[in-house]
Amino acid sequence: MHLAIIMDGNGRWAKAQNKNRTEGHKVGAEVVKKITTYCSNNPEIKYLTLYAFSTENWKRPKMEVDFLMKLLDNWLKKELETYIKNEVRFEVIGDISKFSKKLQKRIEITKEKTKNFNRLTQILALNYGSRDEIIRAVKKLCDKNLEVTEENISKNLDTANFPDVDLLIRTSGEVRLSNFLLWQVAYAEMFFTPTLWPDFTEKELEEIIENYKKRERRFGGI
Ligand code: IPE
Ligand code: IPE
Ligand code: MG
Repeated sequence: MHLAIIMDGNGRWAKAQNKNRTEGHKVGAEVVKKITTYCSNNPEIKYLTLYAFSTENWKRPKMEVDFLMKLLDNWLKKELETYIKNEVRFEVIGDISKFSKKLQKRIEITKEKTKNFNRLTQILALNYGSRDEIIRAVKKLCDKNLEVTEENISKNLDTANFPDVDLLIRTSGEVRLSNFLLWQVAYAEMFFTPTLWPDFTEKELEEIIENYKKRERRFGGI
């Protein structure tokens, strides 16, 4: 199963506790660890894609963007041992060429050091936007002189090596996709929970998965 999560609500969580938004992001990062560990121990889940930074998130105040970049760098450095311990392969979708050289290097190192693991593949969506991804894919088709087919588009998206999403969850009560995996969720089952990301737990995820299993997926058939 490929599970994808729009991790939303860090800012509102912090505000509710009279804290700075950055505190919400810090706690949110701990939840990433918790949920990834849970998924690595659930043999049904093979791919976990997490929306961490969108192509639109550059619109936020510079201080918040800088904080998120720093948090990501520190996180990857600190958590490498957790990826190794849990045998989680780290992958990225999105255009990371806009990130600092240092952060790009950190991302490459993490990918390289975890590339042979297969208990779970965790895919972070970083400077990711579905429209940007589709535009880049179509450009690749033009450059390679390839026919425009569903297969060729899929194979040239950032998700080329991953299956379509089966289950999409968004936290924080917003009911929208915010430019996340538009092509890949064509037949995904979707769940929207009011829980803010820093409050999301393994138990709630387990309940959503149980509910997902009861749904009948028809893919256009009968
Ligand atoms: C999601 O939480 C994390 C990122 C987008 C990086 P938000 O920061 O969007 O939190 P809210 O939506 O303002 O509560
Ligand atoms: C989507 O959340 C992006 C991430 C979770 C990284 P946003 O908070 O940026 O989305 P909008 O602005 O509510 O649509
Ligand atoms: Mg938000």
